[in-house]
Amino acid sequence: MYEDVARILISEEDLQRRVRELAQQIEADYQGKDLLLVGLLKGAVHFMVDLTRAMKRPVAIDFMAVSSYGASTESSGIVRILKDLDESIEGKHVLIVEDIVDTGLTLKYILEMLRRRGPASLRVCALLNKKDRRLVDVPLDYVGFDIPNEFVVGYGLDFRQVYRNLPFVAVLKPEVYQRAS
Ligand code: PRP
Repeated sequence: MYEDVARILISEEDLQRRVRELAQQIEADYQGKDLLLVGLLKGAVHFMVDLTRAMKRPVAIDFMAVSSYGASTESSGIVRILKDLDESIEGKHVLIVEDIVDTGLTLKYILEMLRRRGPASLRVCALLNKKDRRLVDVPLDYVGFDIPNEFVVGYGLDFRQVYRNLPFVAVLKPEVYQRAS
């Protein structure tokens, strides 16, 4: 797997340091409030685990699995819920945990859907922000790293479901894509 990596964009050390900073910031902002972290499967799993482990306060976690409609690799903006949340979020302080925000279409849809369920507050924590690709405006309350418009894998992010378990964020060698096509 490591031999397929062309370049490391964010090292394991930088990721872990930034995740700890985000955890501290979130702890400070939600002091005295119950907090429910909602992770979007599957990309947010690694981030969610490290983020919650870095927190000293009690938090509840839940997960949602979504997929864009259609065969296109680009987001369509219409999202199909594959797995909904287990619990109601009414009256709760909810923080969505995302691995990457690209066009913003997935997040916009989820935010609108969850807002209709009446949470006390609804905010977003995204590890990676690919600003150049944004098609719709979405509010990001916590951002780990702004990254350039390159296809990245690792730390939860995949290429054809593989490479999620790389401990860093990286760019793959061109031949990996050629091999797959
Ligand atoms: C990725 C990512 C976001 C979405 C971002 O999920 O986790 O949910 O795409 O793209 P957008 O801003 O253009 O909508 P993906 O569909 O690859 O699923 P995964 O989390 O299971 O890898």
